[in-house]
Amino acid sequence: MTAQLNELLKINYPIIQAPMFLVSNTAMVIEAMKSGIAGCIPALNYRTLEELRSAISELKANKVEGGAFGFNLIVNKSNIKYKSQLEVLCEEGCDFIITSLGSPEETIKQAHKVGIKVFCDVVDLKFAQKVEALGADAAIAVNNEAGGHRGGLSPEDLIKTLTQNISIPVISAGGVGCRADVDKMLSYGAAGVSVGSPFIASTEANVTEEYKQACVDYGAKDIVVTERISGTPCTVINTPYVQKVGTKATWLESILNKNKKLKKWVKMIRFSIGMRATEKAAKGVTYKTVWVAGPSIEHTEAILPTKEIIKNLISK
Ligand SMILES: Cc1cc2nc3c(=O)[nH]c(=O)nc-3n(C[C@H](O)[C@H](O)[C@H](O)COP(=O)(O)O)c2cc1C
Repeated sequence: MTAQLNELLKINYPIIQAPMFLVSNTAMVIEAMKSGIAGCIPALNYRTLEELRSAISELKANKVEGGAFGFNLIVNKSNIKYKSQLEVLCEEGCDFIITSLGSPEETIKQAHKVGIKVFCDVVDLKFAQKVEALGADAAIAVNNEAGGHRGGLSPEDLIKTLTQNISIPVISAGGVGCRADVDKMLSYGAAGVSVGSPFIASTEANVTEEYKQACVDYGAKDIVVTERISGTPCTVINTPYVQKVGTKATWLESILNKNKKLKKWVKMIRFSIGMRATEKAAKGVTYKTVWVAGPSIEHTEAILPTKEIIKNLISK
């Protein structure tokens, strides 16, 4: 299984284990590297810069030929630690950075000085052209089947539109749960795939057994999009609690979001409240359970070690 991403990251299979807030950790990424793919962790999974530094040291010490590791940076104003996280990544080093939710300009400038590749999350052609002009090494095409903050276009539409109009590699994110899905995205012209939700139910993931088991028990038809977590629409499992509270923003949230002056602050506050609520649901079982996942959990049939999940993605 070869595509442009193999060459770009010097990995054996063109797959990135996608960054997932609260879920991803070094144990998962080390297993990903050993299996010949790349792994990525959100920098926000570390409360302090020291913890981030020590995660990088651990990954460097465990890096093997055929694997690669990177970090995800949220590059808009909601992430008050953005600049210091970028500094640590550039000082300590990693293979790649995935940027999300804002302009990657500063990240590209700083990371390229120290030889780190930068891949940018995009959901449409306009933003893809912008990141290409800024010097991104690849675009991560987040489609309408992705878990988390999904895009609006189908995998086929998005990959084809981007590959026809930009010249940097296009990595497809969303809707990949088995080998046939990987092959499909590559056949549309993707340089590789980024896979998140299928790894939630890995033995190494940092979340509760209940969250993992929910990914086994629920399927694609149980995924809904809610505006109630961070203000930005996000995919979650339609548990009884989600059904009870609904998925639309409240009238107050809608009014605040429409006010131009307040919008930025409301976004930051909602983001932080949303992060804390998601953390509670991921780390402990409460009746207010909101579990983030995408429809690709359809293929999740058991809680398995990361290496077994990767085997299912690469073997026919
Ligand atoms: C639980 C969860 C948490 C996520 N957290 C982040 C994040 O912190 N940063 C980010 O850029 N993307 C995040 N994503 C999106 C993934 O990186 C990736 O784009 C997505 O999982 C791809 O779709 P899939 O779930 O169908 O594989 C998250 C996705 C999930 C399911």
